[in-house]
Amino acid sequence: MSEFTVGDTDFLLDGRPVRLLSGALHYFRVHEAQWGHRLAMLRAMGLNCVETYVPWNLHEPRPGEFRDVEALGRFLDAAREAGLWAIVRPGPYICAEWENGGLPHWVPGHARTRDERFLRPVRAWFRRLLPEVVSRQIDRGGPVILVQVENEYGSYGSDAAYPDRLAGLLRAEGVTVPLFTSDGPEDHMLTGGSVPGVLATVNFGSHAREAFRTLRRHRPEGPLMCMEFWCGWFDHWGAEHVVRDPEDAAAALREILECGASVNLYMAHGGTSFAGWAGANRGGDLHDGPLEPDVTSYDYDAPLDEAGRPTRKFWAFREVLAEYAEGPLPEPPAPPAPLSTPAEARVTAWAPLEAVLEACGGTEVSSPVPPTFEELDVDRGVVRYEVTVPGPRQPYPLIARGLRDLAVVYVDGERAGVLTEAEERLKEPVAGHARVELWVESLGRVNYGPRSGEAKGITGGILHERQYLHDVRARGLRLDDLEDVSAVPFREPDGAGAPGLYRGSVTVRGAGDALLELPGWTRGFVWLNGFNLGRYWSAGPQRALFVPGPVLREGVNEVRVLEFEGASGRPPTLRGV
Ligand code: GLA
Repeated sequence: MSEFTVGDTDFLLDGRPVRLLSGALHYFRVHEAQWGHRLAMLRAMGLNCVETYVPWNLHEPRPGEFRDVEALGRFLDAAREAGLWAIVRPGPYICAEWENGGLPHWVPGHARTRDERFLRPVRAWFRRLLPEVVSRQIDRGGPVILVQVENEYGSYGSDAAYPDRLAGLLRAEGVTVPLFTSDGPEDHMLTGGSVPGVLATVNFGSHAREAFRTLRRHRPEGPLMCMEFWCGWFDHWGAEHVVRDPEDAAAALREILECGASVNLYMAHGGTSFAGWAGANRGGDLHDGPLEPDVTSYDYDAPLDEAGRPTRKFWAFREVLAEYAEGPLPEPPAPPAPLSTPAEARVTAWAPLEAVLEACGGTEVSSPVPPTFEELDVDRGVVRYEVTVPGPRQPYPLIARGLRDLAVVYVDGERAGVLTEAEERLKEPVAGHARVELWVESLGRVNYGPRSGEAKGITGGILHERQYLHDVRARGLRLDDLEDVSAVPFREPDGAGAPGLYRGSVTVRGAGDALLELPGWTRGFVWLNGFNLGRYWSAGPQRALFVPGPVLREGVNEVRVLEFEGASGRPPTLRGV
Protein backbone atom coordinates (compact mmCIF):
# COMPACT_ATOMS: atom_id res chain seq x y z
CA MET A 1 0.00 0.00 0.00
CA SER A 2 1.24 3.45 -0.86
CA GLU A 3 1.76 6.53 1.20
CA PHE A 4 1.15 10.04 -0.03
CA THR A 5 2.75 12.91 1.87
CA VAL A 6 3.48 16.61 1.66
CA GLY A 7 7.22 17.30 1.44
CA ASP A 8 9.09 20.61 1.77
CA THR A 9 8.93 21.29 -1.96
CA ASP A 10 6.98 18.39 -3.50
CA PHE A 11 4.17 15.95 -3.02
CA LEU A 12 5.71 12.56 -2.29
CA LEU A 13 4.38 9.15 -3.21
CA ASP A 14 6.29 6.60 -1.15
CA GLY A 15 9.01 9.21 -0.86
CA ARG A 16 9.21 9.88 -4.61
CA PRO A 17 8.32 13.41 -5.82
CA VAL A 18 5.15 13.55 -7.93
CA ARG A 19 3.38 16.38 -9.67
CA LEU A 20 -0.41 16.37 -9.55
CA LEU A 21 -1.99 17.03 -12.93
CA SER A 22 -5.58 17.05 -11.82
CA GLY A 23 -8.92 17.97 -13.33
CA ALA A 24 -12.22 18.85 -11.67
CA LEU A 25 -15.19 16.69 -12.56
CA HIS A 26 -18.24 16.73 -10.30
CA TYR A 27 -19.79 13.26 -10.18
CA PHE A 28 -23.17 14.87 -9.44
CA ARG A 29 -23.09 16.81 -12.71
CA VAL A 30 -22.55 13.80 -14.96
CA HIS A 31 -24.88 10.85 -15.51
CA GLU A 32 -23.36 7.90 -13.69
CA ALA A 33 -23.38 5.72 -16.82
CA GLN A 34 -21.02 8.28 -18.40
CA TRP A 35 -18.47 8.61 -15.58
CA GLY A 36 -16.19 6.00 -17.16
CA HIS A 37 -16.04 7.84 -20.47
CA ARG A 38 -15.29 11.19 -18.85
CA LEU A 39 -12.58 9.78 -16.60
CA ALA A 40 -10.92 8.09 -19.57
CA MET A 41 -11.00 11.46 -21.35
CA LEU A 42 -9.19 13.04 -18.39
CA ARG A 43 -6.47 10.42 -18.67
CA ALA A 44 -6.23 11.02 -22.41
CA MET A 45 -5.80 14.76 -21.80
CA GLY A 46 -2.71 13.94 -19.77
CA LEU A 47 -4.13 14.14 -16.24
CA ASN A 48 -3.21 11.76 -13.45
CA CYS A 49 -5.83 12.85 -10.91
CA VAL A 50 -9.50 13.84 -10.67
CA GLU A 51 -10.99 16.25 -8.15
CA THR A 52 -14.59 16.41 -6.96
CA TYR A 53 -16.64 18.39 -4.50
CA VAL A 54 -19.43 16.78 -2.45
CA PRO A 55 -22.78 18.65 -2.30
CA TRP A 56 -24.23 18.20 1.18
CA ASN A 57 -27.68 19.50 0.19
CA LEU A 58 -28.05 16.92 -2.58
CA HIS A 59 -27.33 14.09 -0.16
CA GLU A 60 -29.23 15.28 2.92
CA PRO A 61 -32.45 16.91 1.65
CA ARG A 62 -33.96 16.89 5.15
CA PRO A 63 -32.11 16.60 8.47
CA GLY A 64 -31.09 12.98 8.97
CA GLU A 65 -32.66 11.88 5.67
CA PHE A 66 -29.76 10.75 3.49
CA ARG A 67 -29.89 10.09 -0.22
CA ASP A 68 -27.35 8.01 -2.16
CA VAL A 69 -24.28 9.10 -0.20
CA GLU A 70 -22.68 5.99 -1.72
CA ALA A 71 -22.50 7.79 -5.09
CA LEU A 72 -19.24 9.38 -3.99
CA GLY A 73 -17.70 5.99 -3.21
CA ARG A 74 -18.79 4.57 -6.54
CA PHE A 75 -17.24 7.55 -8.29
CA LEU A 76 -13.96 7.13 -6.43
CA ASP A 77 -13.94 3.46 -7.40
CA ALA A 78 -14.45 4.49 -11.03
CA ALA A 79 -11.53 6.94 -10.71
CA ARG A 80 -9.27 4.18 -9.41
CA GLU A 81 -10.32 1.91 -12.26
CA ALA A 82 -9.49 4.71 -14.70
CA GLY A 83 -5.99 4.92 -13.22
CA LEU A 84 -6.47 8.32 -11.58
CA TRP A 85 -5.73 9.60 -8.10
CA ALA A 86 -8.51 11.53 -6.46
CA ILE A 87 -8.83 14.77 -4.50
CA VAL A 88 -12.02 15.13 -2.45
CA ARG A 89 -13.43 18.47 -1.37
CA PRO A 90 -16.25 17.61 1.04
CA GLY A 91 -17.06 21.19 2.10
CA PRO A 92 -19.38 21.40 3.98
CA TYR A 93 -19.51 24.57 1.86
CA ILE A 94 -18.41 24.10 -1.77
CA CYS A 95 -19.48 27.25 -3.73
CA ALA A 96 -19.32 25.59 -7.21
CA GLU A 97 -22.25 27.51 -8.76
CA TRP A 98 -24.35 25.03 -6.81
CA GLU A 99 -27.56 25.85 -4.91
CA ASN A 100 -26.61 27.53 -1.61
CA GLY A 101 -22.97 26.55 -2.15
CA GLY A 102 -23.92 23.03 -1.14
CA LEU A 103 -25.33 23.89 2.29
CA PRO A 104 -28.83 22.47 2.89
CA HIS A 105 -31.62 25.06 3.01
CA TRP A 106 -32.47 23.83 6.50
CA VAL A 107 -29.04 24.50 8.00
CA PRO A 108 -29.51 26.33 11.29
CA GLY A 109 -27.40 28.94 13.04
CA HIS A 110 -24.56 30.96 11.68
CA ALA A 111 -23.29 28.87 8.79
CA ARG A 112 -19.54 28.72 8.21
CA THR A 113 -18.66 29.66 11.77
CA ARG A 114 -17.88 27.67 14.90
CA ASP A 115 -21.53 28.14 16.01
CA GLU A 116 -22.53 24.80 17.51
CA ARG A 117 -25.97 24.96 15.87
CA PHE A 118 -24.12 24.77 12.55
CA LEU A 119 -21.29 22.44 13.57
CA ARG A 120 -23.65 19.82 15.03
CA PRO A 121 -25.32 18.92 11.69
CA VAL A 122 -21.93 19.19 9.95
CA ARG A 123 -20.57 16.60 12.35
CA ALA A 124 -23.51 14.26 11.70
CA TRP A 125 -23.12 14.70 7.95
CA PHE A 126 -19.38 14.06 7.99
CA ARG A 127 -19.91 10.96 10.12
CA ARG A 128 -22.23 9.63 7.42
CA LEU A 129 -20.13 10.79 4.45
CA LEU A 130 -16.51 10.30 5.37
CA PRO A 131 -16.46 6.49 5.52
CA GLU A 132 -16.90 6.69 1.71
CA VAL A 133 -13.64 8.61 1.57
CA VAL A 134 -11.68 7.02 4.40
CA SER A 135 -12.09 3.49 3.03
CA ARG A 136 -10.73 4.66 -0.32
CA GLN A 137 -7.60 6.45 0.83
CA ILE A 138 -4.37 5.57 -0.92
CA ASP A 139 -2.95 3.77 2.11
CA ARG A 140 -5.92 1.40 1.83
CA GLY A 141 -5.49 0.79 -1.87
CA GLY A 142 -7.89 3.52 -2.96
CA PRO A 143 -7.29 6.61 -5.11
CA VAL A 144 -7.78 9.37 -2.48
CA ILE A 145 -4.60 11.36 -1.84
CA LEU A 146 -5.82 14.74 -0.57
CA VAL A 147 -8.89 16.09 1.26
CA GLN A 148 -9.85 19.76 1.44
CA VAL A 149 -10.90 21.70 4.52
CA GLU A 150 -13.90 23.98 3.68
CA ASN A 151 -13.58 26.01 0.47
CA GLU A 152 -11.99 29.42 0.00
CA TYR A 153 -12.99 30.26 3.55
CA GLY A 154 -10.83 33.38 3.38
CA SER A 155 -13.16 34.87 0.76
CA TYR A 156 -15.98 34.64 3.24
CA GLY A 157 -15.03 34.75 6.88
CA SER A 158 -12.38 35.06 9.54
CA ASP A 159 -13.53 32.74 12.33
CA ALA A 160 -10.16 31.00 12.58
CA ALA A 161 -11.56 28.45 15.01
CA TYR A 162 -14.00 27.20 12.36
CA PRO A 163 -11.68 25.75 9.66
CA ASP A 164 -9.49 24.51 12.48
CA ARG A 165 -12.48 22.64 13.97
CA LEU A 166 -13.28 21.18 10.55
CA ALA A 167 -9.74 19.91 10.14
CA GLY A 168 -10.05 18.26 13.56
CA LEU A 169 -13.34 16.71 12.50
CA LEU A 170 -11.83 15.24 9.34
CA ARG A 171 -8.99 13.73 11.37
CA ALA A 172 -11.38 12.42 14.02
CA GLU A 173 -13.43 10.65 11.35
CA GLY A 174 -10.35 8.84 10.10
CA VAL A 175 -8.95 10.96 7.27
CA THR A 176 -5.22 10.20 7.29
CA VAL A 177 -4.15 11.57 3.89
CA PRO A 178 -2.85 15.17 3.83
CA LEU A 179 -5.40 17.95 4.24
CA PHE A 180 -5.29 21.28 2.44
CA THR A 181 -7.10 24.59 2.13
CA SER A 182 -7.57 26.63 -1.05
CA ASP A 183 -7.96 30.38 -1.33
CA GLY A 184 -7.59 33.33 -3.62
CA PRO A 185 -3.97 34.56 -3.87
CA GLU A 186 -4.65 37.64 -1.73
CA ASP A 187 -3.19 38.28 1.70
CA HIS A 188 -6.50 38.61 3.55
CA MET A 189 -7.88 35.50 1.85
CA LEU A 190 -4.83 33.43 2.68
CA THR A 191 -4.77 34.56 6.29
CA GLY A 192 -8.54 34.04 6.66
CA GLY A 193 -8.68 30.66 4.95
CA SER A 194 -5.56 28.73 5.86
CA VAL A 195 -5.04 26.57 8.91
CA PRO A 196 -1.70 26.29 10.72
CA GLY A 197 0.02 23.03 9.86
CA VAL A 198 -2.28 22.36 6.88
CA LEU A 199 -1.08 22.74 3.28
CA ALA A 200 -2.29 26.00 1.66
CA THR A 201 -3.04 26.15 -2.09
CA VAL A 202 -4.24 28.98 -4.33
CA ASN A 203 -6.98 29.45 -6.96
CA PHE A 204 -6.64 31.67 -10.03
CA GLY A 205 -7.09 31.91 -13.79
CA SER A 206 -3.79 33.56 -14.78
CA HIS A 207 -0.55 35.18 -13.52
CA ALA A 208 0.73 32.03 -11.83
CA ARG A 209 4.13 33.47 -10.93
CA GLU A 210 2.63 36.37 -9.05
CA ALA A 211 0.06 34.14 -7.32
CA PHE A 212 2.69 31.68 -6.12
CA ARG A 213 4.88 34.56 -4.94
CA THR A 214 1.99 35.71 -2.74
CA LEU A 215 1.50 32.17 -1.47
CA ARG A 216 5.21 31.90 -0.64
CA ARG A 217 4.99 35.01 1.52
CA HIS A 218 2.54 33.09 3.67
CA ARG A 219 4.01 29.63 3.27
CA PRO A 220 7.76 29.55 2.63
CA GLU A 221 7.62 25.77 2.36
CA GLY A 222 5.45 23.06 0.87
CA PRO A 223 4.56 22.02 -2.67
CA LEU A 224 2.99 24.71 -4.86
CA MET A 225 -0.44 23.95 -6.21
CA CYS A 226 -3.11 25.84 -8.07
CA MET A 227 -6.19 24.04 -6.75
CA GLU A 228 -8.53 25.81 -9.18
CA PHE A 229 -7.05 26.89 -12.46
CA TRP A 230 -10.08 28.62 -14.01
CA CYS A 231 -9.62 27.63 -17.62
CA GLY A 232 -13.17 28.70 -18.50
CA TRP A 233 -16.09 30.27 -16.71
CA PHE A 234 -19.85 29.87 -16.13
CA ASP A 235 -22.91 31.70 -17.48
CA HIS A 236 -25.80 33.58 -15.89
CA TRP A 237 -29.35 33.69 -17.22
CA GLY A 238 -29.95 36.82 -19.22
CA ALA A 239 -26.23 37.59 -19.65
CA GLU A 240 -23.64 37.04 -22.39
CA HIS A 241 -22.16 33.57 -22.88
CA VAL A 242 -18.61 33.57 -21.46
CA VAL A 243 -15.67 31.95 -23.26
CA ARG A 244 -11.91 31.81 -22.78
CA ASP A 245 -9.52 31.48 -25.66
CA PRO A 246 -7.89 28.00 -25.71
CA GLU A 247 -4.41 29.30 -26.56
CA ASP A 248 -4.55 31.87 -23.79
CA ALA A 249 -5.68 29.20 -21.31
CA ALA A 250 -2.97 26.78 -22.49
CA ALA A 251 -0.31 29.48 -22.00
CA ALA A 252 -1.58 30.09 -18.45
CA LEU A 253 -1.44 26.35 -17.77
CA ARG A 254 2.13 26.23 -19.07
CA GLU A 255 3.09 29.08 -16.73
CA ILE A 256 1.76 27.12 -13.74
CA LEU A 257 3.71 24.03 -14.71
CA GLU A 258 6.87 26.04 -15.39
CA CYS A 259 6.68 27.22 -11.78
CA GLY A 260 7.13 23.58 -10.82
CA ALA A 261 3.61 23.55 -9.42
CA SER A 262 0.80 21.01 -9.40
CA VAL A 263 -2.53 21.96 -10.90
CA ASN A 264 -6.22 21.15 -10.83
CA LEU A 265 -8.09 22.30 -13.95
CA TYR A 266 -11.36 23.90 -12.91
CA MET A 267 -13.23 22.50 -14.74
CA ALA A 268 -11.76 19.64 -16.78
CA HIS A 269 -15.37 18.71 -17.54
CA GLY A 270 -18.22 20.76 -16.11
CA GLY A 271 -21.32 18.77 -17.05
CA THR A 272 -24.79 19.92 -16.09
CA SER A 273 -26.56 21.29 -13.01
CA PHE A 274 -29.54 18.99 -13.46
CA ALA A 275 -32.79 19.22 -11.50
CA GLY A 276 -32.64 22.90 -10.56
CA TRP A 277 -29.45 22.62 -8.51
CA ALA A 278 -27.74 25.61 -10.17
CA GLY A 279 -26.86 28.38 -7.73
CA ALA A 280 -26.67 32.13 -8.13
CA ASN A 281 -24.35 35.06 -7.59
CA ARG A 282 -24.86 38.59 -6.39
CA GLY A 283 -23.38 41.14 -8.79
CA GLY A 284 -21.12 44.09 -8.05
CA ASP A 285 -17.60 44.19 -6.67
CA LEU A 286 -18.81 43.44 -3.15
CA HIS A 287 -21.07 40.60 -4.36
CA ASP A 288 -24.03 42.37 -2.83
CA GLY A 289 -25.78 43.56 -5.99
CA PRO A 290 -28.49 42.14 -8.25
CA LEU A 291 -29.22 38.43 -8.28
CA GLU A 292 -27.44 36.61 -11.13
CA PRO A 293 -28.83 33.08 -11.35
CA ASP A 294 -26.62 30.45 -12.98
CA VAL A 295 -27.76 28.60 -16.09
CA THR A 296 -28.38 24.85 -16.11
CA SER A 297 -25.41 24.01 -18.31
CA TYR A 298 -22.08 23.85 -16.49
CA ASP A 299 -20.20 23.53 -19.76
CA TYR A 300 -17.78 26.08 -18.31
CA ASP A 301 -16.03 26.38 -21.67
CA ALA A 302 -13.96 23.51 -20.26
CA PRO A 303 -11.64 21.31 -22.34
CA LEU A 304 -14.40 18.67 -22.42
CA ASP A 305 -17.69 20.27 -23.33
CA GLU A 306 -21.02 19.64 -21.59
CA ALA A 307 -21.50 16.43 -23.59
CA GLY A 308 -17.97 15.22 -22.78
CA ARG A 309 -16.57 15.91 -26.24
CA PRO A 310 -13.02 17.22 -26.65
CA THR A 311 -12.79 20.90 -27.64
CA ARG A 312 -9.84 22.84 -29.07
CA LYS A 313 -8.90 23.56 -25.46
CA PHE A 314 -8.64 19.81 -24.82
CA TRP A 315 -6.10 19.35 -27.60
CA ALA A 316 -4.16 22.48 -26.59
CA PHE A 317 -3.97 21.30 -22.96
CA ARG A 318 -3.04 17.78 -24.03
CA GLU A 319 -0.06 19.17 -25.88
CA VAL A 320 1.13 21.05 -22.79
CA LEU A 321 0.44 18.17 -20.38
CA ALA A 322 2.13 15.59 -22.62
CA GLU A 323 5.47 17.22 -21.83
CA TYR A 324 4.97 16.45 -18.16
CA ALA A 325 3.61 12.93 -18.56
CA GLU A 326 5.46 9.76 -17.72
CA GLY A 327 5.24 8.07 -21.11
CA PRO A 328 2.89 8.45 -24.06
CA LEU A 329 -0.70 9.53 -23.38
CA PRO A 330 -3.56 7.13 -24.02
CA GLU A 331 -5.80 7.94 -27.00
CA PRO A 332 -9.27 9.34 -26.17
CA PRO A 333 -11.97 6.65 -25.99
CA ALA A 334 -14.77 6.67 -28.58
CA PRO A 335 -17.35 9.35 -27.76
CA PRO A 336 -20.80 8.25 -26.58
CA ALA A 337 -23.20 7.88 -29.49
CA PRO A 338 -25.36 10.90 -30.28
CA LEU A 339 -29.10 10.50 -30.88
CA SER A 340 -29.26 9.43 -34.51
CA THR A 341 -32.67 10.75 -35.58
CA PRO A 342 -34.19 14.09 -34.50
CA ALA A 343 -37.57 13.71 -32.86
CA GLU A 344 -40.53 15.85 -31.89
CA ALA A 345 -42.52 15.27 -28.73
CA ARG A 346 -46.30 15.01 -28.73
CA VAL A 347 -47.85 16.92 -25.85
CA THR A 348 -51.12 15.25 -25.05
CA ALA A 349 -52.05 16.27 -21.53
CA TRP A 350 -51.97 19.32 -19.29
CA ALA A 351 -52.93 20.35 -15.78
CA PRO A 352 -53.06 23.93 -14.44
CA LEU A 353 -50.55 24.89 -11.74
CA GLU A 354 -53.39 25.04 -9.19
CA ALA A 355 -54.23 21.40 -9.78
CA VAL A 356 -50.56 20.36 -9.60
CA LEU A 357 -50.16 22.20 -6.31
CA GLU A 358 -53.31 20.56 -5.03
CA ALA A 359 -52.12 17.08 -5.99
CA CYS A 360 -48.40 17.26 -5.14
CA GLY A 361 -47.79 20.33 -2.96
CA GLY A 362 -47.21 20.70 0.75
CA THR A 363 -49.93 21.68 3.19
CA GLU A 364 -51.24 25.21 3.15
CA VAL A 365 -49.99 27.52 5.90
CA SER A 366 -51.86 30.61 7.09
CA SER A 367 -49.77 33.29 8.67
CA PRO A 368 -49.84 37.04 9.32
CA VAL A 369 -46.65 37.47 7.32
CA PRO A 370 -45.53 35.49 4.28
CA PRO A 371 -43.44 32.47 5.35
CA THR A 372 -40.14 32.01 3.52
CA PHE A 373 -39.30 29.01 1.37
CA GLU A 374 -37.12 27.79 4.22
CA GLU A 375 -39.99 27.99 6.71
CA LEU A 376 -42.12 26.00 4.26
CA ASP A 377 -39.26 23.51 3.76
CA VAL A 378 -39.03 24.19 0.03
CA ASP A 379 -35.53 23.76 -1.34
CA ARG A 380 -36.02 24.02 -5.10
CA GLY A 381 -39.46 24.87 -6.42
CA VAL A 382 -42.27 27.35 -6.19
CA VAL A 383 -44.54 28.81 -3.50
CA ARG A 384 -48.01 30.18 -4.09
CA TYR A 385 -48.81 33.09 -1.79
CA GLU A 386 -52.42 34.21 -1.62
CA VAL A 387 -53.83 37.35 -0.01
CA THR A 388 -57.14 39.13 -0.07
CA VAL A 389 -57.25 42.87 -0.64
CA PRO A 390 -60.22 43.94 1.48
CA GLY A 391 -62.85 46.07 -0.14
CA PRO A 392 -64.39 48.02 -1.38
CA ARG A 393 -61.35 50.30 -1.57
CA GLN A 394 -59.53 52.47 -4.12
CA PRO A 395 -57.00 51.04 -6.56
CA TYR A 396 -53.56 51.23 -4.94
CA PRO A 397 -50.13 49.81 -5.75
CA LEU A 398 -49.48 46.23 -4.74
CA ILE A 399 -45.93 45.47 -3.62
CA ALA A 400 -44.07 42.25 -2.77
CA ARG A 401 -41.34 43.59 -0.49
CA GLY A 402 -38.06 41.72 -0.39
CA LEU A 403 -39.13 39.43 -3.21
CA ARG A 404 -36.74 36.57 -3.93
CA ASP A 405 -36.67 35.92 -6.81
CA LEU A 406 -39.54 36.20 -9.23
CA ALA A 407 -43.34 36.14 -9.00
CA VAL A 408 -46.05 35.62 -11.57
CA VAL A 409 -49.05 37.50 -10.19
CA TYR A 410 -52.77 36.93 -10.72
CA VAL A 411 -55.56 39.23 -9.57
CA ASP A 412 -58.94 37.50 -9.37
CA GLY A 413 -57.55 34.75 -11.54
CA GLU A 414 -56.31 37.12 -14.29
CA ARG A 415 -52.62 37.38 -15.02
CA ALA A 416 -51.51 40.82 -13.76
CA GLY A 417 -47.74 40.79 -14.32
CA VAL A 418 -44.37 39.40 -13.35
CA LEU A 419 -42.49 40.88 -10.39
CA THR A 420 -38.78 40.63 -9.70
CA GLU A 421 -36.42 41.82 -7.02
CA ALA A 422 -35.81 44.99 -9.07
CA GLU A 423 -39.50 45.49 -9.86
CA GLU A 424 -41.44 44.62 -6.72
CA ARG A 425 -44.51 46.66 -7.60
CA LEU A 426 -47.33 45.65 -9.93
CA LYS A 427 -47.71 47.99 -12.91
CA GLU A 428 -51.48 48.38 -12.52
CA PRO A 429 -52.92 49.36 -9.13
CA VAL A 430 -55.29 46.87 -7.54
CA ALA A 431 -58.74 47.80 -6.20
CA GLY A 432 -60.41 45.93 -3.31
CA HIS A 433 -62.04 43.53 -2.94
CA ALA A 434 -59.57 41.27 -4.83
CA ARG A 435 -57.93 37.91 -4.49
CA VAL A 436 -54.20 38.12 -5.28
CA GLU A 437 -52.00 35.12 -6.00
CA LEU A 438 -48.23 35.37 -6.27
CA TRP A 439 -46.45 32.30 -7.65
CA VAL A 440 -42.93 32.84 -6.41
CA GLU A 441 -39.99 30.90 -7.86
CA SER A 442 -36.53 30.45 -6.44
CA LEU A 443 -33.99 30.89 -9.23
CA GLY A 444 -31.25 29.28 -7.16
CA ARG A 445 -29.80 30.17 -3.77
CA VAL A 446 -26.73 32.40 -3.68
CA ASN A 447 -23.58 30.29 -3.51
CA TYR A 448 -20.87 32.92 -3.04
CA GLY A 449 -20.23 36.00 -0.96
CA PRO A 450 -21.79 37.72 2.03
CA ARG A 451 -25.35 37.06 0.90
CA SER A 452 -25.06 33.31 0.54
CA GLY A 453 -27.70 31.53 2.53
CA GLU A 454 -30.28 34.32 2.21
CA ALA A 455 -33.91 33.25 2.31
CA LYS A 456 -36.21 32.79 -0.70
CA GLY A 457 -39.82 33.87 -1.07
CA ILE A 458 -41.43 37.15 -0.07
CA THR A 459 -39.09 38.14 2.71
CA GLY A 460 -40.46 41.61 3.52
CA GLY A 461 -44.25 41.36 3.37
CA ILE A 462 -47.05 42.06 0.92
CA LEU A 463 -48.21 45.67 0.84
CA HIS A 464 -51.29 47.41 -0.52
CA GLU A 465 -50.23 51.04 -0.71
CA ARG A 466 -48.41 51.39 2.67
CA GLN A 467 -50.52 48.86 4.49
CA TYR A 468 -49.29 45.34 5.12
CA LEU A 469 -51.77 42.72 4.02
CA HIS A 470 -51.70 40.15 6.76
CA ASP A 471 -53.50 36.86 6.55
CA VAL A 472 -51.28 35.27 3.96
CA ARG A 473 -51.99 31.75 2.75
CA ALA A 474 -48.88 29.98 1.44
CA ARG A 475 -48.30 26.59 -0.09
CA GLY A 476 -45.06 25.15 -1.46
CA LEU A 477 -44.29 22.74 -4.26
CA ARG A 478 -40.85 21.12 -4.16
CA LEU A 479 -39.49 19.96 -7.50
CA ASP A 480 -38.87 16.57 -5.95
CA ASP A 481 -42.60 16.33 -5.17
CA LEU A 482 -43.10 16.03 -8.93
CA GLU A 483 -41.23 12.75 -9.17
CA ASP A 484 -44.65 11.09 -8.85
CA VAL A 485 -47.46 12.87 -10.71
CA SER A 486 -49.99 10.04 -10.64
CA ALA A 487 -52.38 12.15 -8.54
CA VAL A 488 -52.40 15.08 -10.99
CA PRO A 489 -55.75 15.35 -12.85
CA PHE A 490 -54.39 15.79 -16.38
CA ARG A 491 -56.70 16.81 -19.18
CA GLU A 492 -56.34 17.68 -22.85
CA PRO A 493 -54.36 20.88 -23.41
CA ASP A 494 -56.55 23.62 -24.86
CA GLY A 495 -53.79 25.03 -27.06
CA ALA A 496 -53.71 28.37 -25.22
CA GLY A 497 -50.24 27.70 -23.84
CA ALA A 498 -51.28 28.36 -20.24
CA PRO A 499 -48.81 27.76 -17.40
CA GLY A 500 -49.02 24.32 -15.87
CA LEU A 501 -47.67 20.81 -16.09
CA TYR A 502 -47.62 19.34 -19.61
CA ARG A 503 -47.20 15.68 -20.36
CA GLY A 504 -46.49 13.86 -23.57
CA SER A 505 -44.18 11.43 -25.25
CA VAL A 506 -41.37 11.34 -27.72
CA THR A 507 -40.54 8.33 -29.85
CA VAL A 508 -36.81 7.82 -30.17
CA ARG A 509 -34.85 5.91 -32.77
CA GLY A 510 -31.11 5.49 -32.26
CA ALA A 511 -31.01 6.70 -28.64
CA GLY A 512 -27.95 8.70 -27.62
CA ASP A 513 -26.78 12.06 -26.30
CA ALA A 514 -29.24 14.76 -27.31
CA LEU A 515 -30.26 18.38 -26.93
CA LEU A 516 -33.79 19.28 -26.00
CA GLU A 517 -35.34 22.56 -27.11
CA LEU A 518 -38.67 24.16 -26.19
CA PRO A 519 -39.43 26.61 -28.97
CA GLY A 520 -41.50 29.51 -27.66
CA TRP A 521 -41.80 28.23 -24.09
CA THR A 522 -40.83 30.68 -21.35
CA ARG A 523 -39.45 29.22 -18.13
CA GLY A 524 -39.69 26.02 -16.18
CA PHE A 525 -38.35 22.50 -15.84
CA VAL A 526 -38.32 19.39 -18.05
CA TRP A 527 -38.33 15.71 -17.09
CA LEU A 528 -37.50 12.89 -19.50
CA ASN A 529 -38.50 9.47 -18.22
CA GLY A 530 -38.61 11.00 -14.76
CA PHE A 531 -35.08 12.45 -15.00
CA ASN A 532 -35.09 16.19 -14.28
CA LEU A 533 -32.97 17.86 -16.98
CA GLY A 534 -33.04 21.22 -15.20
CA ARG A 535 -34.38 24.71 -15.75
CA TYR A 536 -34.99 26.20 -19.19
CA TRP A 537 -35.54 29.92 -19.71
CA SER A 538 -36.06 31.94 -22.83
CA ALA A 539 -33.85 34.66 -21.26
CA GLY A 540 -30.84 32.71 -22.62
CA PRO A 541 -27.97 32.51 -23.29
CA GLN A 542 -28.58 28.76 -22.90
CA ARG A 543 -30.97 27.62 -25.61
CA ALA A 544 -31.06 23.83 -25.24
CA LEU A 545 -30.88 21.33 -22.40
CA PHE A 546 -28.39 18.47 -22.51
CA VAL A 547 -29.98 15.01 -22.44
CA PRO A 548 -27.54 12.25 -21.45
CA GLY A 549 -28.04 9.30 -23.78
CA PRO A 550 -28.61 6.83 -20.91
CA VAL A 551 -31.77 8.76 -19.97
CA LEU A 552 -33.40 7.88 -23.31
CA ARG A 553 -34.66 4.52 -24.48
CA GLU A 554 -35.56 3.16 -27.88
CA GLY A 555 -39.23 3.74 -28.64
CA VAL A 556 -41.58 5.75 -26.46
CA ASN A 557 -40.22 8.09 -23.80
CA GLU A 558 -42.23 10.14 -21.33
CA VAL A 559 -41.81 13.94 -21.36
CA ARG A 560 -43.07 16.35 -18.72
CA VAL A 561 -42.72 20.12 -18.76
CA LEU A 562 -43.55 22.41 -15.86
CA GLU A 563 -44.10 25.86 -17.42
CA PHE A 564 -44.49 28.88 -15.13
CA GLU A 565 -45.38 31.65 -17.55
CA GLY A 566 -46.60 30.60 -20.94
CA ALA A 567 -45.97 27.96 -23.59
CA SER A 568 -46.18 28.35 -27.33
CA GLY A 569 -48.00 25.14 -27.95
CA ARG A 570 -45.12 24.08 -30.21
CA PRO A 571 -43.70 20.67 -29.32
CA PRO A 572 -40.39 20.14 -27.51
CA THR A 573 -37.76 18.77 -29.90
CA LEU A 574 -34.79 16.44 -29.55
CA ARG A 575 -31.72 16.28 -31.77
CA GLY A 576 -28.33 14.61 -31.50
CA VAL A 577 -25.50 16.58 -29.91
C1 GLA B 1 -14.36 29.65 -6.63
C2 GLA B 1 -14.97 28.43 -5.97
C3 GLA B 1 -15.44 27.39 -6.95
C4 GLA B 1 -16.17 28.03 -8.10
C5 GLA B 1 -15.28 29.05 -8.76
C6 GLA B 1 -15.90 29.76 -9.93
O1 GLA B 1 -13.05 29.47 -6.88
O2 GLA B 1 -14.06 27.84 -5.07
O3 GLA B 1 -16.28 26.50 -6.28
O4 GLA B 1 -17.32 28.64 -7.62
O5 GLA B 1 -14.96 30.05 -7.84
O6 GLA B 1 -16.37 28.89 -10.87
